[in-house]
Amino acid sequence: MFDIILSDQLQHSLYMQLYMQIRNYIRSGVIINGTRLPSIRALQVHLNISKTPIETAYQMLIAEGYVVSRPRSGLYAVNAHEKKSSSQKNNNSSHLLLDLQQSIRTPIPQNYRIDFDPSSVDRDMFPIRTWRKMLNGVMENFAGSICQYGDPQGEYSFRSVLSDYLRNSRGVICSPEQIVIGSGISYSIGILSKLFSGIQHIAFEEPGFEPVREQFILNGFHLIPISIYDKGLSLDELEKSEAQTVYVTPSHQFPTGVVIPYAEREYLLNWANSRNAYIIEDDYDGEFRYFGKPIPSLQGLDRQGRVIYIGTFSKAFSPALRMNYMVLPMELIRKMRTLHYLLFSPSRIEQWAMQSFIEQGHWYRHIRRMRNTYRKKHHRLLELLHIHFTEGIEITGHSAGLHIQAIVKSRETVEDLLKLAANEGVRVYDFLQMWMNQNQSGYPKIYLGFGGINENDMETGILLLKKAWSRIWD
Ligand SMILES: Cc1ncc(COP(=O)(O)O)c(C=O)c1O
Repeated sequence: MFDIILSDQLQHSLYMQLYMQIRNYIRSGVIINGTRLPSIRALQVHLNISKTPIETAYQMLIAEGYVVSRPRSGLYAVNAHEKKSSSQKNNNSSHLLLDLQQSIRTPIPQNYRIDFDPSSVDRDMFPIRTWRKMLNGVMENFAGSICQYGDPQGEYSFRSVLSDYLRNSRGVICSPEQIVIGSGISYSIGILSKLFSGIQHIAFEEPGFEPVREQFILNGFHLIPISIYDKGLSLDELEKSEAQTVYVTPSHQFPTGVVIPYAEREYLLNWANSRNAYIIEDDYDGEFRYFGKPIPSLQGLDRQGRVIYIGTFSKAFSPALRMNYMVLPMELIRKMRTLHYLLFSPSRIEQWAMQSFIEQGHWYRHIRRMRNTYRKKHHRLLELLHIHFTEGIEITGHSAGLHIQAIVKSRETVEDLLKLAANEGVRVYDFLQMWMNQNQSGYPKIYLGFGGINENDMETGILLLKKAWSRIWD
C-alpha cells in the first residue's frame, strides 16, 4: 500500500489530507493508471481512522475524475497522461506545483521543426533598444535608490502610472493603493490564498488554467469544476454550487478561447453580490482582441468591490520579465496590510524601467504594434487552416489572445493526433491537464499558439500537419 501520512497538526482535515495525498500520487504517476485502490475497510484498518474521511476523500476523487468506481470490483485510479518514468514515479508530490512553462508542454520528447507553442510571444518585436535605454535611464535617475529595498507592494510611482493605463485601456477602476505588483500569477494566487480566510470552496473553469488550480488545491481549497460552454462558464452550475469565490478568464477563456458576453458578466456580478463572493478575473491576454468591440473588464463593471483583477506583462511584453499586477478591492487591501510580510515585489529597477516605458509613451506604441502583428498572424493561421483542412477542423475561441482551439473531426485520440504531428516534426498541444475530469467526450480538441511563430514557419507547420493527418478523417 502507498504511504499516507496524516497529521492532527496540519490545518487540513483528515479527508482533505487523504484526498490531496492520493490525488497527488495519481497525478505524479506513483499510483499508475488502472491501479485498484485499497478498499475503505482496508484503508480504515491501515490508518486507524473512521471510515467517514476515507469515504469523503474517495467521493471527491471520483467527482473530479481521478478515480472510477467499477461495480462489484472496486475503485481504480485514472491518469490520462502518459506513464511516467520510474525516476519520476519516485519523486514526491512537490513537483506537482507545475510552473506555467511545464504545464503547457506536452511530454513527447522530440526535436520539433515547428512548434505552435501557446506560451510563446514574438521575439523579433521585443523593443530591445528602447528597453535598454529605459534601464540606463533608471541607473542615472534613480541612482540614489538602487541600493535600497523598495515598497513590497510595488513602487508607488509605478503603481500610479499603471492605474492610469488600466483605466484607459481595460476600463479597470482603481487607485494605486489597490495595486499589488508581483512576479506572476502564482505569486498573486499565493497572496489571495492567505487573504481568503473563511473561504473553502472555489468554483473553477472546467477546463481551466492548471497552475492556478494546483496552487489553490495545495493551499487547501476545495475546487468545484464549472463547465464552459459557448458563453463562458455555466451560470446555472455556479448558482447550484456552494462556491464562495470563482476564478474566470472572461476576455479569452483559457484554453477554449470563449469570451463572456456583457449580459453574462452582469449576471456573474449579481451572483457575487448576492453571496458576498469574490470573482477572480484573470485578464492574461486581454490586450489582444481581433473581432468586435473591446469588452470592458468585469472589474470596471463592479460597483460592490467583488472583483479581484489580475493582469500580466507576460503576453504583451515578455514572460522573462516575471512581472504582473493584481488589483484588490479595498476590503482585501485592508486585510493585506495586516499580512504585509507576505509581500515581496519584483526588481524595483525593472519596475522603474517599465514605469518610464509607459510614461514616455513607448508602451502604447508597443501594444499597437503587437496588436497589428498578432492580428496578421492570427488571420494567416485561420486562413491556412481553412485552406488546408476545409471542413475537417472547426476553429473556435479565435476572437482574441495568442492561441486558438481546433476541434478535429476525427475518431483518433488527441494523443494519437499529437504523435502523428510529432512524427512530421510539428508540435501542437492537447492541454489535457487543464481538465479536472479528463474523460472527455466528442471530437478531440487541439491547441495552436501563433504568437512566437513567423508566417513562413506557420505555413510550413500547417502543411506538415496536413500531411501528418492525411488519413484520419471521419
Ligand atoms: C490563463 C493564464 N493566466 C495567467 C497567465 C500569466 O501568468 P504569468 O503572469 O505568471 O506569466 C497566463 C500565461 O500564459 C495564462 O495562460
